[in-house]
Amino acid sequence: MSQGVQNKVVVITGASSGLGAETARHLSAAGANVVLGARRVERLETLAKELNLHDQSIMKTDVTDRSQVSALVDRAVKLHGRIDVLLNDAGLMPSSMLDKLKVDEWDRMNDVNIKGVLYGIAAALPHMQSQKSGQIINVSSVAGHKVGPGGSVYAGTKWAVRAISEGMRQEVKPWNIRTTIVSPGAVATGLIDTITDEDIAAGMAKTHEQAIPASSFARVVEFAISQPEDIDINEVLFRPTSQAIDVATIRDEPFSLFSHLTMELSLCLTSSSKLGQEKRRNRNSNSLTPLRKA
Ligand SMILES: NC(=O)c1ccc[n+]([C@@H]2O[C@H](COP(=O)([O-])OP(=O)(O)OC[C@H]3O[C@@H](n4cnc5c(N)ncnc54)[C@H](OP(=O)(O)O)[C@@H]3O)[C@@H](O)[C@H]2O)c1
Repeated sequence: MSQGVQNKVVVITGASSGLGAETARHLSAAGANVVLGARRVERLETLAKELNLHDQSIMKTDVTDRSQVSALVDRAVKLHGRIDVLLNDAGLMPSSMLDKLKVDEWDRMNDVNIKGVLYGIAAALPHMQSQKSGQIINVSSVAGHKVGPGGSVYAGTKWAVRAISEGMRQEVKPWNIRTTIVSPGAVATGLIDTITDEDIAAGMAKTHEQAIPASSFARVVEFAISQPEDIDINEVLFRPTSQAIDVATIRDEPFSLFSHLTMELSLCLTSSSKLGQEKRRNRNSNSLTPLRKA
């Protein structure tokens, strides 16, 4: 039964910066054979030099083009004879309030964050089915669990990633394929640079003051890959210890993080105290009347 990272063939999309690049460094140091894709090929070349990779281990890849994603996975199989892990990491987060109508950015998020992941699955799955082994790791987010103002579309894409991953988990059992969702909170990368809505950018910059290093993500990925083959780490959700807020994106002012938290808290208190009053009334009157909805 295979275990550990040593000699595993790991394909990473979005490997030119941030979480993807750091994971490439981390896994390569642990003995994996990494094959790296992204659009900024000059960054991949620099990384390949740093990690002393074979020239063929990097490939210009736009994940919105299915044929390019297939070519990346096929390159890994040609070079190493198989693919053990696909890390579908490429993504972007140009969050904005819906009324700004940044429809082109919505389209790009859907294309990269959802269709890019699906194209990765389409490329890797047939190989993994014939190998009867493999692992597909999809990157969601805290925003795949919670949505806030300004994060509707980004969160929508990350919820989609979790839905797709969970469906896939159930479907790929017959071929011994593992599926993992990694859902990070604020991690220090270039992700927030893609935000063009100034209000959202300011709020997000504040949230990201507490961001943790990309190595946190790389360690999670290594943990998931290195388990014995009969253990499938299905999801890891992690945040900076200091990250109190759940929502991905909040307008800075007047909808501050503090007022949002206070509002959520007071809603909870209001509804639970209303419910409490109702319960007490019912107890006192010893009535069998069902509780009204709070
Ligand atoms: N950092 C965080 O706090 C955080 C939190 C939760 C989830 N995430 C998720 O983590 C993933 C990685 O983001 P990051 O934080 O590392 O941000 P990043 O530093 O901006 O990296 C994003 C990567 O995605 C690639 N990419 C973007 N569009 C692409 C396309 N069309 N085709 C191929 N690659 C493309 C970029 O490469 P090229 O531009 O060279 O193509 C880059 O390598 C994303 O899915 C993001 O949603 C990040």
